[in-house]
Amino acid sequence: MKKSISILTPDKKFRGRVLHKSNFPTLYRYDPMSGTPVFVMNTAPERQSGRKAQISNITAAKTVADVIRTCLGPKSMLKMILDPMGGILLTNDGNAILREIDVAHPAAKNMIELSRTQDEECGDGTTSVIVLAASILASSLSQLERDIHPVVIISAYNKALREALGIIDRVAIPVNVNDDEQMLGIVKGALGTKFVSRWSELMCKLALDAVHIVAQNSQLASPESQATSTFSSTTPTIDIKRYARVEKIPGGSIEDSRVIRGIMLNKDITHPGMRRRIQNPRIVLLDCPLEYKKGESQTNMEFSKAGDWSRAQEVEEEVVKAMVETICQVGCDLVLTEKGISDLAQHHFLKHNVSCIRRVRKSDNNRIALAVGATIVNRVEDLRESDVGTGCEEMRVDKIGDEYFAILAPCTSPRACTILLRGPSKDILNEVDRNLQDAMSVARNVIMDPRLVPGGGAIEMAVGVGLAQAAKRGTVKTSQGKEGTKENIITGVETGPFLAVAEAMEVIPRTLVQNAGGNAIRVLTELRAKHTSSMSTFGVNGDTGKIVDMKEYGLWESASVKVQILKTAVEAARMLLRVDDVVQAVRKERESGGGAPMPEEMMEAQ
Ligand SMILES: Nc1ncnc2c1ncn2[C@@H]1O[C@H](COP(=O)(O)OP(=O)(O)OP(=O)(O)O)[C@@H](O)[C@H]1O
Ligand SMILES: [Mg+2]
Repeated sequence: MKKSISILTPDKKFRGRVLHKSNFPTLYRYDPMSGTPVFVMNTAPERQSGRKAQISNITAAKTVADVIRTCLGPKSMLKMILDPMGGILLTNDGNAILREIDVAHPAAKNMIELSRTQDEECGDGTTSVIVLAASILASSLSQLERDIHPVVIISAYNKALREALGIIDRVAIPVNVNDDEQMLGIVKGALGTKFVSRWSELMCKLALDAVHIVAQNSQLASPESQATSTFSSTTPTIDIKRYARVEKIPGGSIEDSRVIRGIMLNKDITHPGMRRRIQNPRIVLLDCPLEYKKGESQTNMEFSKAGDWSRAQEVEEEVVKAMVETICQVGCDLVLTEKGISDLAQHHFLKHNVSCIRRVRKSDNNRIALAVGATIVNRVEDLRESDVGTGCEEMRVDKIGDEYFAILAPCTSPRACTILLRGPSKDILNEVDRNLQDAMSVARNVIMDPRLVPGGGAIEMAVGVGLAQAAKRGTVKTSQGKEGTKENIITGVETGPFLAVAEAMEVIPRTLVQNAGGNAIRVLTELRAKHTSSMSTFGVNGDTGKIVDMKEYGLWESASVKVQILKTAVEAARMLLRVDDVVQAVRKERESGGGAPMPEEMMEAQ
């Protein structure tokens, strides 16, 4: 079922219908330059070409950015989005907002994709990338109007990107990832823009602990990803998604949240007589059912003697008993399986004083295997003593809130962990979870690429000023190629688009000042002057809207996030500028359309 809402569509009743301009008055925006209406929604079979297509793409991109512009920085606003299922999404995370939006314009869809890419790649900077991409596109509009060919603009953008990456390299400073205080500061900077900033101390600690646990020997953690990896063997892979699980339990207070150095499962033991608390358990992990194996398809049995039927039943019981005996021979206290455990098997396990948990998720089983040092076995007969996990100090089943949870912690070298989040309501917990993911991604990014750049729009301003200087110089400074080579010289006609990127970079500090309620023009002029006299660590204090030195203010961000933001934004602008024709493929039945929704459209709209 499609879970999306349409915020660009003003009235829900128009969803899933053929829309005509006449019955849909507010679907377009006026382009501020030419005053021509630009249709952002799917109206009728339509084709736009040349300048019109470019203007329409740029306007659509700006519209998307306008939706989330107020969500940037520490004074950001939250968005409340009602989804068609009746749930509420309360967030200021760019990607989380945009993925719920149902847009029709292809350029708008493309922008939303950017935010998703950024989220997958870095986990942070999803708002910045959209705002920046839209700003670059908007500034290219004036270049198009000066009749500069898009190919020239694109070539200038390529050079600008190379120069910008060079500037980031020059401004970036190294960081010691083993210094907890420094790391906490960085994570705190990323969380300061979020809903959880009130509990930022706690959240930063949770995020950093979790990432440190997952990062330990993380190369051993995912041998399969290493085999396929093209990176050198020294590159650690920190798979937060797989090995740091967040368990959200409504109730209690946010302060009760903690990192469990092991695994927590939303499962109870299968039989009430089994032990609920075991010290130093020996753990067996299986992914096969512990019950009598039935025939693959329909099975017929024919009995000729009266006693055969009961014998057949006995055989079933003996098989199950033998299975349990085989498992218990390796000496275990706890058996977890991904499949079922029959009542009879439970009974035999109880006799051996072994506790069992059934129907464990595959992903959970993998994490337990890593945390307690066990191997998942697919056939009971293959079980060896070396497969038993002994790396866990205690197993216990606790009742938290209204549910039972099996906790396997603390583990001696966990390498996988569970973060237990408590909070007043489900919606708040979901937002806390999203924020925590951001914080963990930031910590991971810094560990992977330990370079920092000043935040608060300082790096963007430094890039902007640096680009303007390069335009004046006429050459791009890069590590590859000589300065005088063709690809590094900014030709006369390229200067305009090159400067346009420089100007577009200022959108981040400007938005930060605007969101903090400051005077954007005055602050930006002052900031530009500071950067021109090579004070490249000056940025905006997002709380007051005034200028501060980030060295004193202590806001540093991961360079890899900023590099990714720049690359993605420029790439998106380059791609949209190459488009000179937008043809909308419209399904046959829509053309005949009246007001009534088509059957499949009704399905979609539900
Ligand atoms: N205290 C602060 N003062 C000034 N600027 C800040 C402060 N905290 C963060 N920023 C700036 O805010 C921007 C990040 O804002 P935010 O976290 O809201 O958006 P994002 O990281 O782009 O997207 P998201 O976090 O939603 O994925 C960065 O440019 C950062 O430098
Ligand atoms: Mg952020």
